[in-house]
Amino acid sequence: MSPGAHHAGSSPGAHQTGSSPGAHQTGHATARYEVPTDPSDVDIVAAQLWAAGAIGVWERPAVLVAWFTEATEAVPAGGSWSDEPDHDWQAAWKATIQPVHAGRFAIVPTWLVDEHEPAAGEVTLVLDPGRAFGSGHHATTTLCLELLGELDLDGVTLADVGCGTGVLAIAAARLGAEVTAVDIDPDAVEVTRENAARNGVELRTAVGSVDALDGPVAVVVANLVTDVVASLADALVAAAGSALVVSGITAERREVALDPLRAAGMHIETMLERDGWIAVLGRR
Ligand SMILES: C[S@@+](CC[C@H](N)C(=O)[O-])C[C@H]1O[C@@H](n2cnc3c(N)ncnc32)[C@H](O)[C@@H]1O
Repeated sequence: MSPGAHHAGSSPGAHQTGSSPGAHQTGHATARYEVPTDPSDVDIVAAQLWAAGAIGVWERPAVLVAWFTEATEAVPAGGSWSDEPDHDWQAAWKATIQPVHAGRFAIVPTWLVDEHEPAAGEVTLVLDPGRAFGSGHHATTTLCLELLGELDLDGVTLADVGCGTGVLAIAAARLGAEVTAVDIDPDAVEVTRENAARNGVELRTAVGSVDALDGPVAVVVANLVTDVVASLADALVAAAGSALVVSGITAERREVALDPLRAAGMHIETMLERDGWIAVLGRR
């Protein structure tokens, strides 16, 4: 992960987490809880901290720091409390967020839009890190954006399976695609709708997975997790008329996802790797 704060993957498929006040979480913290956390447990411990009522969770090397309005026994064990007099979590967190650049896209939070100067040819997406996965700070998202940015999507039908914040769906729509965005997490679908409106694009959205699509599309993009990609391989390849962009696959376990995708009829045209994750562009 890149340094600093990242949004929390509160949805079931999120494979990285870090920090976010969440779109609905505000307030001033009075208590700070630091819990040593193995990188492989970050998602689960962060989810426990949010469930315990955290108003902010910040991933630091080997430790998660969470802020609360008051100390609580509901936190995961093994950490330590300290006083945090009137900490404005949201302001501190916002100060750590910068625009993310991925291929031809830049993802800019709303509070930085006025000062953002787009580079020539840049497609600017306005997205706040929030309740769902997909602020663009995660390698899998940026890899997918890089692959999508290489495709000619004008007038092409595209489905984003596991849309999170809708970042990939909105990026594709900005390149002219006719996009359907689905996610099993209703909260993510709602966030996607809000973000689509904010970016002035129209998307079809539905709560569900590949089976919630109306039928095959030309391009499917799916940033999920390794085992989910493996289990959905047949359906993803069947839904993708010509191209499939897939990520959320760990480099270490890539064959767990790639074997079923190949068996379903996909051949890999491009494979990108970053921070232990891979993304592939496959063709049928
Ligand atoms: C890693 S996030 C990706 C979010 C966003 N597309 C991005 O690239 O940043 C994965 C998303 O997939 C969703 N998800 C998990 N399993 C799913 C499934 N079987 N079908 C559809 N969506 C799923 C999760 O709720 C989550 O929002």
